[in-house]
Amino acid sequence: MSRIVLGVGGGIAAYKSCDLLRRLTESGHDVRVVPTATALQFVGQATWAALSGQPVSADPMDNVHEVPHVRIGQDADLVVVAPATANLLAKAANGLADDLLTNVLLTARCPIVMVPAMHTEMWEHPATVDNVATLRRRGILVIEPAEGRLTGADSGKGRMPEPTEILSVVQQTLGRPDGGLDLAGKRVVISAGGTRESIDPVRFVGNRSSGRQGYALASSAAARGAEVALVSANVDLPVPAGVTVIPVVTADELKNEVLSRAPSADAVVMAAAVADFRPSSAAEHKLKKGDGAPAVVLEPTDDVLAALVAVRPDRQVVVGFAAETGDDRTPWLELGRQKLARKGCDLLVVNQVGEGLAFGTEDNAAVVLDRDGTETVVPSGPKLALAHVVWDLVRGRWVG
Ligand code: CTP
Repeated sequence: MSRIVLGVGGGIAAYKSCDLLRRLTESGHDVRVVPTATALQFVGQATWAALSGQPVSADPMDNVHEVPHVRIGQDADLVVVAPATANLLAKAANGLADDLLTNVLLTARCPIVMVPAMHTEMWEHPATVDNVATLRRRGILVIEPAEGRLTGADSGKGRMPEPTEILSVVQQTLGRPDGGLDLAGKRVVISAGGTRESIDPVRFVGNRSSGRQGYALASSAAARGAEVALVSANVDLPVPAGVTVIPVVTADELKNEVLSRAPSADAVVMAAAVADFRPSSAAEHKLKKGDGAPAVVLEPTDDVLAALVAVRPDRQVVVGFAAETGDDRTPWLELGRQKLARKGCDLLVVNQVGEGLAFGTEDNAAVVLDRDGTETVVPSGPKLALAHVVWDLVRGRWVG
């Protein structure tokens, strides 16, 4: 159990933080809610107090004999501010302390996670951009807002990520030994999911990839401070907090989106299952059973990983994935070693697949092969745990 302070800024997304609070307490955490005065106009004191089981105030002068403005911050294992308004980010960046929450932000020495939510114009204003940069420089995790519906009819960047995704960031930050943002300032591109190639307007050639491992890689990189672009092929999972998702369908679209972003990336991770072949032409109209079995002629797609390796800038780390079943002659891990040599990437994450293994499951076991010959065995565990090992190894290559 950790002691968490949930700071709530004065934005409409405060209502979503009730759900976040519930999830935090249900995960066994002891949560103290510290709203701003404006937040209390959106969601009242009684709601926060009932859901947290703790007293709630926005004013440092309430129960002043307990010196709450110092004690709450000092005692916390983690502070998460959701929503963090433009005003709250500005106050925090400038060290103002005119209510209980801003005092807590100055007295806390634990990891601080800020989850901005505001209109696009406010998020993009140079003042906010500067304040966010200042906070990040000081080691605060400021999560990128999501894109989508904002207050009213408009939509754009500025939406608060979903509570489940904020909870995931909180848990990951608490679970890391230093809670540190060791990927801050790094840009990473990740591909996830499985591509689909049309046979006709309703049918496609696809594969069983769920995208979970790629999404776990994206979530973990964002939680460690990286700027993450996730090229996502046909995945039905929630957008991880702080991650920019670029949806694609086919191998060709995936290739274009990955290769256009790769030149400025510090790491590219190809977790997607990319079709090796596609129908050389897709029928314009739905094929009819009465016309007999169609002769589908396949042609090869481009190998994105090979293209990445061929043009990669200095110090960019390129990571491939290989799902292997092994065959009568060669065990799965040996096939992985041969693939690493063939593909020329820096790291290859090899996992054994087959009935009940890896595809669509929550857990994954793998061996990460490094081109320097090191092999890291990752025992069966959550895909998020494997993702963190991959980032540890990528980081080792940057600093090594
Ligand atoms: N990959 C890619 N482009 C493709 C096919 C695969 O970039 N057209 C990437 C995958 O994202 C993965 C790695 O290459 O990171 C290995 O994929 P895999 O399908 O195992 O490789 P293949 O070269 O197709 O190997 P094989 O069919 O011989 O197992």
